[in-house]
Amino acid sequence: MANNTAEALNLRPKKDTKNMELFKAIHRAQHVQRNFDLNKKMPEQDISTIVTAATQCTSKQNVAHYKLHAITNREIIEEIYDCTTCTPEHPEEAQGQKYARNYYPNKGAVKKKGYGKGNYPENPQVLGNLVLVFERYEKFYFNPKKFTNKMGDAANPQTFVTQVEEVRELLEDASAWDAATAKQKDRTMLVAEVLDRMDVDYHDKDELDDYINEMRRTLAQDSFTALGIAAGTVNLTASQLGYGTGCSTCIMNRPKLKKLLGMKRDPLLIMGIGFKQEGKNRRVHHKDDGYTFGTIKKQPIEISYIN
Ligand SMILES: Cc1cc2nc3c(=O)[nH]c(=O)nc-3n(C[C@H](O)[C@H](O)[C@H](O)COP(=O)(O)O)c2cc1C
Repeated sequence: MANNTAEALNLRPKKDTKNMELFKAIHRAQHVQRNFDLNKKMPEQDISTIVTAATQCTSKQNVAHYKLHAITNREIIEEIYDCTTCTPEHPEEAQGQKYARNYYPNKGAVKKKGYGKGNYPENPQVLGNLVLVFERYEKFYFNPKKFTNKMGDAANPQTFVTQVEEVRELLEDASAWDAATAKQKDRTMLVAEVLDRMDVDYHDKDELDDYINEMRRTLAQDSFTALGIAAGTVNLTASQLGYGTGCSTCIMNRPKLKKLLGMKRDPLLIMGIGFKQEGKNRRVHHKDDGYTFGTIKKQPIEISYIN
């Protein structure tokens, strides 16, 4: 059997099997929950399991690429929701969404009708009983002793770039070197030693730039992969626990969100997790029963089986 698509192999498992339970959980997790039952309280054990999913899932070389904020405080969650709402009256708050903002076809109607209702994006999926915010994080392990003795442990090839950046000025600028403390010089010499081993000529500005750019590209990819794995693990875990979930990368007011949660670096993703409302369509706006969000059909993913 080769080159089959999803249609060629029946992916649907038999009734009442573990596979069917997982099949359903995966499909539930694919969709967004736009309203929540806030009368119920999420058990602490469930919160712990979801936080475990977000923090103990796999990542390349087990590097930590994000910091996690887990929020159940209602007032804070309302403020987070506000940060994901795009309002034309606050263009200065649109962070990196300049073009996406103009995509919405009915934006002219917004003044008459008020926000949302299909004119501008609103993200009530972040109003869950539990909200997770992933913050960019970069504090890589650095142990100078291991660093020289045992490259594998202390200086993984990509994360090491941050150490290079830290001492770059001292590597390249003689006056910075002269002004440095003994500790800074020691650190710089260790970095230089590893760069020598890696055959990076740090006296050549272009080569050092190339090295840094290449490592940064790989790190960025690892970081987004780690975030994706975490979001996927949270999604499936929460779904198996019976919760509805929803992601939002539409973060319009980053400065406000950063201040609200005391974040040093940028928010990467917000996830709302919570109890579904009985008898209510998952796509109904949490704050407006009169508005139902559309749904986007999953684009078929081509599968190539090689047996
Ligand atoms: C990483 C990620 C980011 C997302 N960001 C948003 C978002 O900002 N706003 C939104 O409405 N939906 C967002 N979604 C939800 C997806 O668009 C949704 O999963 C897809 O439309 C299918 O769900 P549906 O059946 O509810 O449409 C995001 C999903 C993922 C996985």
